Amino acid sequence: MSEIVSVYRKEHFNSAHRLNNPKWTPERNKEVFGKCNLPNYHGHNYELIVKVTGEIDPATGYVMDMKVLSDIISEQVLERFDHRNLNEDVPEFKELNPTAENIAVVIFRLLRPAIDEHLALQIRLFETPRNYVDYPASS
Ligand code: NI
Repeated sequence: MSEIVSVYRKEHFNSAHRLNNPKWTPERNKEVFGKCNLPNYHGHNYELIVKVTGEIDPATGYVMDMKVLSDIISEQVLERFDHRNLNEDVPEFKELNPTAENIAVVIFRLLRPAIDEHLALQIRLFETPRNYVDYPASS
């Protein structure tokens, strides 16, 4: 009998960003993004929860070794995002607005190749204690 279980790893990073659509006028950007459009950037304490779902491996009793998952997240995400300016320092956001939605998609794409293809992956990203996103979308 194989049981399907979700395991979660919580991580944290601090990053600066600015929301801006270069195709719009400064007025339009200010209207849509408000303080998030201020030119000198601002920071968030991001909370990242990585969810991995799959069968328990009968040999280990694990869905996935959490130390391995932690190392993958550190290597692929934290080392690239933590204490960085997302717009300036992370190539994925050169032309992509670093909203929580887009950051979650980018994190998914960075982690997906490093995790066994038989395991499902979902990213939950808190931008503030009250605002968070899921990718892929929760049903
Ligand atoms: Ni912001």
